[in-house]
Amino acid sequence: MPVRISPSILSADFVNLERDLNRISDADLVHVDVMDNHFVPNLTLGLPIVQRIQEVSPLPLDVHLMIDDADRWAPLYAETGAYSVTFSAEAARDPRALAKTLRGAGARAAVAIKPGTPVEPVLKYLDDIDMILVMTVEPGFGGQSFMDDTMPKLRAAREAIDASGRDVWLEVDGGINDTTILTAVENGADTIVAGSSVYASKPGEGTETGPAERIAA
Ligand code: DX5
Ligand code: ZN
Repeated sequence: MPVRISPSILSADFVNLERDLNRISDADLVHVDVMDNHFVPNLTLGLPIVQRIQEVSPLPLDVHLMIDDADRWAPLYAETGAYSVTFSAEAARDPRALAKTLRGAGARAAVAIKPGTPVEPVLKYLDDIDMILVMTVEPGFGGQSFMDDTMPKLRAAREAIDASGRDVWLEVDGGINDTTILTAVENGADTIVAGSSVYASKPGEGTETGPAERIAA
């Protein structure tokens, strides 16, 4: 099974975003975390900046919305031309309808679940989604520890996806490093978000631990 890598620019230098986007050009996607200080206790960036990243990014955008009122906002992110838009199941009134809307706007439609949210409801509408994101930390911040107790949900999602025969990607996000990536892949993940472990090295500290080398590893 091919594994896709989606580095999170939450750990990039926001003042040198274009430079840091170019540093990860060997990745498959670029993960853009949108936080509204309501759904999660942190604030990042919004539509105008996602639009601008879309214009300069060498990679397809994997937009991860951690915002309230996803039904209202997620379609606007799809309309930026983002390759994939993930909304939080807990923040959508009608996830299936929203997924259909995102597809209609030309984006891959994805649904994220927090560590405490069961996966079973999402598995009922696999026909209408392109990816499930199983959060492996509480959403909101980079640099947290991987929660092993989310692995049963990941396995359940993998089994349901395989049984469906659908090409639904299965993503993990949070606490991914050289060790936990193996755990996630063994439990069925095929798309891996990594923030602090990719951007850990500082510019000019040598190439052996730079972002490009972290992706290759
Ligand atoms: C956290 C974000 C993640 C974050 C992951 O809520 O959704 O994408 O950047 O960061 P690491 O890889 O450092 O856990
Ligand atoms: Zn994320």
